[in-house]
Amino acid sequence: MKKSLFISLFVGLSLSVFAADIKSPNGNLLLNVDVNAQGQPYYNLNYKGKPVIVDSKLGLAAKEAKFTDNFKILSTDTASFNETWHPVWGEYQDIVNHYNQLSVNMENTDGLLMTVCFRVFDDGMGFRYEFPIQDKANYLAVLDEVTEFNFPADNTLWAIPGDYDTDEFLFTEARLSEMPNALNSKKGRHSESQWAPELANAVQTPLLAKSDDGLYINVHEAALIGYPAMQLDLDTANYGMKAHLTPDKLGVRGYLQLPFNTPWRTIIVSDDAREILASQLILNLNEPSKIEDTSWIKPMKFIGVWWEMFTGKEKTWAYSDDFRAKPGITDYTKLKPNGRHPANTENVKKYIDFAAAHGIDGVLVEGWNEGWEDWGSYRKNRQFLFDKPYPDFDLPYLRDYAKEKGVKLIMHHETAANAMDYERQLDKAFQFMKDNNYDAVKTGYVGAIIPRSEHHTSQYMVDHAQYVIEKAADYEIMIDSHEAPRPTGLIRTYPNWLAQESARGGEFESMGGNPPSHTAILPFTRLKGGPMDYTPGLFQTDLSYYGEGKTGKAMTTLARQLALYLTMPSPMQMAADLPENYERFPDAFQFIKDVPVEWKDSKYLEAEPARYITVARLDKNSDDWYVAGITDDNARDAVIDFSFLPAGSKYVATIYADAPDAHWETNPQAYTITTKDVTSKTKLKQHIAPGGGFAIRLQPK
Ligand code: NOJ
Ligand code: CA
Repeated sequence: MKKSLFISLFVGLSLSVFAADIKSPNGNLLLNVDVNAQGQPYYNLNYKGKPVIVDSKLGLAAKEAKFTDNFKILSTDTASFNETWHPVWGEYQDIVNHYNQLSVNMENTDGLLMTVCFRVFDDGMGFRYEFPIQDKANYLAVLDEVTEFNFPADNTLWAIPGDYDTDEFLFTEARLSEMPNALNSKKGRHSESQWAPELANAVQTPLLAKSDDGLYINVHEAALIGYPAMQLDLDTANYGMKAHLTPDKLGVRGYLQLPFNTPWRTIIVSDDAREILASQLILNLNEPSKIEDTSWIKPMKFIGVWWEMFTGKEKTWAYSDDFRAKPGITDYTKLKPNGRHPANTENVKKYIDFAAAHGIDGVLVEGWNEGWEDWGSYRKNRQFLFDKPYPDFDLPYLRDYAKEKGVKLIMHHETAANAMDYERQLDKAFQFMKDNNYDAVKTGYVGAIIPRSEHHTSQYMVDHAQYVIEKAADYEIMIDSHEAPRPTGLIRTYPNWLAQESARGGEFESMGGNPPSHTAILPFTRLKGGPMDYTPGLFQTDLSYYGEGKTGKAMTTLARQLALYLTMPSPMQMAADLPENYERFPDAFQFIKDVPVEWKDSKYLEAEPARYITVARLDKNSDDWYVAGITDDNARDAVIDFSFLPAGSKYVATIYADAPDAHWETNPQAYTITTKDVTSKTKLKQHIAPGGGFAIRLQPK
């Protein structure tokens, strides 16, 4: 990977046993670290003189050894680092990684050694535990991580409920003290989830907090490798949050062999909400790309044999209805087709034709392979075969047809959470992809994990995800994972990990809907870990259009769906609706055809969590700028200041906007397309309907 490096490294060593502190490069953040009278390490963090985190404990308890108290600080090391690196794809071509580092080396009265390493950036900080090889304990079964994040006051939070198995929830906005009540009074924890009662006071990260004195604070983790994911238990009386690691079947949180560094615990902070969106802190805390030649990694737009199954007349991923009734059948050619199976040769051909006609790079086909019938009553033994197309899916023919048309087929591996079986099949599955000209796969882990009683976010599944992404890199395969542990910036290390779901996505528009605030909070929370396969681009929002008992309305205008391509940036971006719906609105579809999926630069112009976002982005491969804005369910006038454009240049803006009478509920498909000359001096007031949005393409004149 090409890199320009500006590294300055100053290493200082002091043998003081006193409290240590360190500031961010611009001096705005001040971190203090010390041990209390019981020898418990703790830290606190200030931003521009305001407390962000008050005294919060650090430490880790394992079965073999307790790294929690009776510590003294042996020494501290400091260092500074300043580098500009260039991701393979993303929101920015250049990312500045500038921090001051403080390593606090400690020993306790049992002779246990622990270092806590802090990196303080201008936009927040990260810290991790580093356990060196040591005489007293080298293999740890982790029982608890002590880490606290204590707020000075009853901050407002945006969070989803704690859950070891799913993050497909809507966000709840509540004061920290009210959050457990607010979450638990809601119905509808995910039906597949093995929700654990000990999570009654827990929330998941990334979460966002806002203080009454105007600080925005994102709490998450970076570089989650070889360790379980972190949830946070809320201490409603003291406005505190404490790490709650996902356990395994036996209640152990993780098995470590020293030396071991935990993932980074991250706190992004600013008094300007736009800076939370712009922060690259989590990526910066991840290791550089492990993949040297990244030329095969190609961002893409795609359509899919997918939304049909969510909307259309009992259409199924399965080829047949037989298998459920007849356990033991293995010969699929003997099954009776159910006639409701869209992943068939003729239908897929139509999608390929549509993609070719409109310059869409890929076609995802779900339900192409054997195993879906097994998802019914025999699911205990469920197994998918990743090299066995259904009888009505003529892969050799479609492979050649897609190639001839210049379109890539995208593979689908629904594992039904049988992770162990997937690992056994993985080499065969990836080789099968390569043999058939597939470069990208959408993976899925719906249901309770096999091995039984493991969790979607336990160490086992974190290890599984790493195994899959590294194996994929060996085969030069790109991954879009669904139902995997939520991302922690590992896309920097594995840029073939183009996208993840790991949140409640657009598909829920067919299952109860996502309020407009949902896509106005995701960029402040879930997206800080990496791009989401949200599946935007829904033009037919009233589902009664599909007849036969389908009801419900997606809570979005058509124009908002265009805006999501910019407010929910992803290098693997779906145009989720049916080709026939794009054919009904060809002028609006033009925006989806034009919008890039990777960027040279991005400027957040307006932002308030769960309320509104306005962003401008510069295409990586041309001089075109794009601007988009969204609101919540209130109408809003965005004010776009075009001063980000180069002075003196003239652009023509094509503006896709909500019509004056548009409304997500009553008039979602009312949009206007207008053009306007724009320079860096232009200021534009742009109306947005309730649940609406706008999208602009700016081309140099
Ligand atoms: C859930 C995924 O999120 C969805 O996109 C997929 O179609 C189904 N699982 C089936 O694999
Ligand atoms: Ca899902």
